Amino acid sequence: MSTNTAPVFPPASSMEILFSKEQIAQRVAEIGAQISAEYAGQDSGQPIVLIGVLKGAAIFLADLARAITISNTFDFVAVSSYGRARVSSGAVKLIKDIDNPIEGKHVIIVEDILDTGLTLSYLRGLMLQHKPASLKIATCLDKPERRLVPIEADYIAFSIPNRFVIGYGMDYAEVYRNVADIRIYPETPAGH
Ligand code: PRP
Repeated sequence: MSTNTAPVFPPASSMEILFSKEQIAQRVAEIGAQISAEYAGQDSGQPIVLIGVLKGAAIFLADLARAITISNTFDFVAVSSYGRARVSSGAVKLIKDIDNPIEGKHVIIVEDILDTGLTLSYLRGLMLQHKPASLKIATCLDKPERRLVPIEADYIAFSIPNRFVIGYGMDYAEVYRNVADIRIYPETPAGH
């Protein structure tokens, strides 16, 4: 079903801004403050662990980690994409596991986008096997109408309708992750 058409990469500056970098910074600061307050009581000197899901979450995690004022560490996992089919097979596979043990630790999985929920549902199950003291989810974007499995994030910067977005870590064909604002890609790429 794939075509050999090369991707087109219009300039990001031509795309409509959904959330400006200032709006993003504001929400990240708010979530960082909320997490700092909520975990302050139970910190007891133990850093909380942020687990970013490569690659999209890298930029959100970098900002969120610095917006959290209590001690934290970070780690990364990578999962195989289940494919870009609208109707997913649901198959998610771990490509890169965490580097450090999380047993007994307060863990927050950090995502750029919660879409069908298949990735986070799989990762949550996997991380729970490590017996963390607690496990929460922070996502920059949430697309609730796309959900195929029941899962909700504990911290959400923005809830959005089903639009294909790029920037702030999110890509189209690996491009645009560095764009500072979150923008709407002009056409819905096949499979999204
Ligand atoms: C995106 C995103 C999530 C996942 C969410 O990753 O970063 O990991 O899809 O989708 P879901 O809720 O439908 O499972 P992608 O496969 O695009 O990889 P990337 O992070 O490297 O861009």
